[in-house]
Amino acid sequence: MTLYSSFAEFPAVIQAADKTQDPCAWLSQHRQEVLSQLERHGAVLLRGFRLVSDTDFDRAISAFELPAFTYEESLSNAVRKNRTDKVFTANEAPPEIEIFLHHEMAQTPRYPSKLFFFCELASREGGATPLCRSDLLLQAMREQMPAFVSKCEEEGLLYTNIMPLFADLQSGQGRSWQSTLNCEDRAGAESRLQALGYSWQWLDDGSLKATTPVLPAIRTLESGTQVFFNQLIAAFMGWKDSRNRHEKVVRFGDEAAIADEDMQQVVSLAQRFTHDLQWQTGDMAIVDNFLVMHGRRPFKGERRVLASLVA
Ligand code: FE2
Repeated sequence: MTLYSSFAEFPAVIQAADKTQDPCAWLSQHRQEVLSQLERHGAVLLRGFRLVSDTDFDRAISAFELPAFTYEESLSNAVRKNRTDKVFTANEAPPEIEIFLHHEMAQTPRYPSKLFFFCELASREGGATPLCRSDLLLQAMREQMPAFVSKCEEEGLLYTNIMPLFADLQSGQGRSWQSTLNCEDRAGAESRLQALGYSWQWLDDGSLKATTPVLPAIRTLESGTQVFFNQLIAAFMGWKDSRNRHEKVVRFGDEAAIADEDMQQVVSLAQRFTHDLQWQTGDMAIVDNFLVMHGRRPFKGERRVLASLVA
């Protein structure tokens, strides 16, 4: 079946042929080829390109001449640290925490189109980045669980998140409300939320509970391809911390609960379309955020994977 043969080349791998060449010069000459591989396969791994530091990575991204999507402006819940204007640490959550499959920022009205990753230091054990083809997953779901897919299409999703007053580094989504909403005080938070169409409630401990407007669970891309573009898997598998419990985090747009059995089926189907990208130090990868979900396997030892987002 074509469906699975295209998955066999996932992600596409580009190995540097000439190790003496400046990687950024090569990337600027070949950027169209790399981007068309990305469009075809959903993810591209660039290996052996003599990239060492965060500034090398920044230059390599710049070679593509794509518009940046900055962390300050984003509504991401992850705690991150900037290394350069464009480059930041992928997620500050502790090594034993698994970050489950998701499309970046699909739980907000603003999301990047592409993600760049760079492995500054591969971990001793574990730490792969699972990549899942969302279009293939949706095709399989349509065959095996059509009623659930219809409900997703008709109702869309509401996401509720409790953001702490101060960053919580023990959580994969512990970014404070001031940082998430890029504001100084409650009035600033409220005007940003209002503009975005959210509803909200202040809690006694100073945290902020916010619910999105109804967001689509399935999106049709310009190419006509449909994708399971949401945060359902990540929310059901992993969005548990001292503030958030998964049952309340995502609901259908009509407020109906999402059944655990349905989500278990989605999670098990997703495994079929997932490839673990096993990092080697110096690797760079580009992920199409519309076609492919990503996550992070737990790891041991030090692991430094940097990221950058494109609008
Ligand atoms: Fe992510």
